[in-house]
Amino acid sequence: MKVLLFFGLVAVALADVTRYEGDKVFRLKPVLDEHVTLIKDLAKNIEVDFWSPEGAELVTIDMDVDIHVPAQYLNIVFTILDQNDMEHDVLIEDVQVAVDGQADGGPTPRAHSYTKYNNWNDIQSWIASISSSNPNLISKQVIGNTYEGRPMTLLKLGKKSSSSKPAIFMDCGIHAREWISPAFCQWFVKEALSTYGSDAQMTSLLNQMDVYVLPVFNIDGYDYTHKGSRMWRKTRSRKSGSSCIGADPNRNFNAGWCTLGASSNPCSDTFCGYSPESEIEVKNVANFIRRNKAIIKAYITIHSYSQLLLFPYSYTYDLAQHHSELMQVAQGASAALRSLYGTRYTSGPGATTIYPAAGGSDDWAYDLGVKYSYTFELRDTGRYGFLLPESQIKPTCEETMLAVKYIAAYVRKNI
Ligand code: ARG
Ligand code: ZN
Repeated sequence: MKVLLFFGLVAVALADVTRYEGDKVFRLKPVLDEHVTLIKDLAKNIEVDFWSPEGAELVTIDMDVDIHVPAQYLNIVFTILDQNDMEHDVLIEDVQVAVDGQADGGPTPRAHSYTKYNNWNDIQSWIASISSSNPNLISKQVIGNTYEGRPMTLLKLGKKSSSSKPAIFMDCGIHAREWISPAFCQWFVKEALSTYGSDAQMTSLLNQMDVYVLPVFNIDGYDYTHKGSRMWRKTRSRKSGSSCIGADPNRNFNAGWCTLGASSNPCSDTFCGYSPESEIEVKNVANFIRRNKAIIKAYITIHSYSQLLLFPYSYTYDLAQHHSELMQVAQGASAALRSLYGTRYTSGPGATTIYPAAGGSDDWAYDLGVKYSYTFELRDTGRYGFLLPESQIKPTCEETMLAVKYIAAYVRKNI
């Protein structure tokens, strides 16, 4: 009886979880205008989950287009690709297999680990324990709650000081499915605490500056990728009148809002929201940065995937006022990153390096006056995409540390 009840509960719990059996991820190579039109039409007619770029409106000629296609549409997609001679590869043969190969699930619940993709519960307990572990170097504050009421806890790393220090702000997990991103913020905090006093660069950084770390920006979305749909990207806000949930937090900042590379359709994955900062998570972060703009000298935001180091602008093709300096620092950071395992990154302004897209946090912070504003797109380049195996967490975080520390050292010496 007990056993039956148990299985009954498991079945209920599983009922809401999106499964991806037989789904595939394709890389399409549109080389003709007709190919681009075809991809956009496909997106209108069947349920396509855009991995890169993140929406049909961002597709242009000669770019790699990675799309996740549900099993039920495979026949039609194969037929269309063949009929139109569009070059394509299959990146992932079975999305569910890749999800299972990565997942947090399994029979026994796992404890927090820096080399696993921790769920929100575990990250929340980790935040509480790590911030009380070393009161001389770390403190926490809640900058507001998410739409579903979860506290957005910001960690402050730095040697205690009586006067206010210049600071760096870094966030992870703006997009829910980019799991390597929150893993990096946790890694960064651990490394900062464990190498302070032994690593010269980290010691000078935390002596002279404070580093604010927001481990998960879009907590509601992140939690949903663990419990509901692994491929969720947006927030989880609702509005009466639309059955579609959430907006893209990285299209919701007040920087050329919704003019370009964003969608005004609430059902789109790149929905810009109903107004700038309509998403409470965006408003909470923007309010914190506005309140502290006198001390915040750098803004770093961590995404995946593509191996890019981007800086403003993305909402316009115009070059940023500090373009050459931003480029020089990005190239130095990429070289540092590459020195460890040979991982290659491309640096440049968002609009030309990835695609034009307005409403991003990097452009917004830059226009507010935070000169050193960078977006990382971590590993990989599409072999696993968002489903990067846990075995790659450690090398990815180690190499990314070198890039972030390079930027931090540059900022520290140039303020
Ligand atoms: N993949 C990221 C996104 O779509 C790139 C962000 C680059 N910056 C920007 N402001 N669009 O959000
Ligand atoms: Zn992202």
